[in-house]
Amino acid sequence: MKITIIGSGYVGLTTGACFAEVGHHVLCVDNDPKKVETLLAGQIPIFEPGLEEIVKKNVAARRLCFSTSTEEGVDHGEVLFIAVPTPPQPDGSVDLSFIEKVAREISQYLDSYRVIVDKSTVPVKTGERVAQTIRRYARPGVEFDVVSNPEFLREGSAVADLMKPDRIVIGGNSDRALALMQKIYEPFVAPVLVTDINSAELIKHAANSFLALKISYINALAEICEASNADVLKVAEGIGADKRIGRDFLNAGLGYGGSCFPKDIAAFIAISEQLDIPFNLLKEVQRINARQLERFLDALREALWVLKDKKIAVWGLAFKPNTDDVRSSVAINLVERLVAEGAQVTVYDPKAMEKARDLPVADKLTFAENALEAARGAEALVIATEWREFASVDLSQLREAMLTPLIFDGRNLLDPVAAADFGFQYRGIGRGTVEARS
Ligand code: UDX
Repeated sequence: MKITIIGSGYVGLTTGACFAEVGHHVLCVDNDPKKVETLLAGQIPIFEPGLEEIVKKNVAARRLCFSTSTEEGVDHGEVLFIAVPTPPQPDGSVDLSFIEKVAREISQYLDSYRVIVDKSTVPVKTGERVAQTIRRYARPGVEFDVVSNPEFLREGSAVADLMKPDRIVIGGNSDRALALMQKIYEPFVAPVLVTDINSAELIKHAANSFLALKISYINALAEICEASNADVLKVAEGIGADKRIGRDFLNAGLGYGGSCFPKDIAAFIAISEQLDIPFNLLKEVQRINARQLERFLDALREALWVLKDKKIAVWGLAFKPNTDDVRSSVAINLVERLVAEGAQVTVYDPKAMEKARDLPVADKLTFAENALEAARGAEALVIATEWREFASVDLSQLREAMLTPLIFDGRNLLDPVAAADFGFQYRGIGRGTVEARS
């Protein structure tokens, strides 16, 4: 099928590449000429495992192309996916101006039937507004349908999530549009859930806020574990073994970050307030999440007494492993807080160094070549992102490199007993402090 994706950011590019991979003819449109130039030159502006390969392969097979022209996009695709940003506003609600603008642009060029799909994460009832807008601006009598088709891809495993989704949600009320959507997704072996538009939009916000709730739940439990000398990893294992609960998203740590959860939870709260049904449970989720960093900083101050002038190594800057994304990364918040208290911070991340160098805090940081270099001479090591390479570090070399052997493991990545055996004082999340044994 011929598909157009408007907005070639994280979601748009990955979705477009995966559609091309299963045989569709995809045109990805973006209004940033530089980005389109980069993509046409075969370069990918983000790090995402497996993405570069499928982009290159499908560009070569002429199933994937890029353009800056919405007109060309409307002409090309029978189905037009909108995948433009939906950034947060200061009050937490979503800025829908990019969506509205694209809806107007599409209507300008619409001259025969098209399905317009909301792929971006949007508040419930956005689809209705998109349809109204197109109807208002398009030439009279032109046929179109609006569909909601939320994405559930995770950064770092976006290609795999798209190629083998748990489910595909399609919200719409026109058989003609639903038939085309089902044809697009035919090559993907996954259950398809067909709903009305509003339910599809709600599913996205409800899914992300439930996952965030799970994270805050385990983080709140972590605090109780610390106060009662229990181990949150064991507790997570014990409750997660119940199929009704599940072990996923029960990893206690510094809290959730990234470009989705913080924004989506705030947006869902804002919608609930607009609907006059304030979702206070989600406010508590936010509060617990913010508290994780504060508790961690308290523990650092407790151990180091004064942070000013202390040499602190921070491993990990990305908001989670397998991505170079530092947007709303808790690791970055942590580094900023340490710098604000006058600590001398040396950082290392396997993939996110380049993106971190563009941040305002970068001038105050020392960027190390590798994890061990970052730790050289440090008075404390903080693990802020659970990259696998950090777990396999040689603890004896690490001990030699550091000035004082203190590990603050914000992601419960290391084995506390092994760390203690190598002479470290170790503090994880929800597992108390383990004193050095040698
Ligand atoms: C999320 C959703 O998972 C995805 O379905 C949606 O489409 C977009 O938002 P993503 O933001 O890529 O994906 O990351 P995710 O893997 O969900 O992690 C989000 C944050 O939660 C990260 O900061 C991660 O470190 C944290 N997290 C996750 C925990 O702290 N504990 C966990 O157990 C799991």
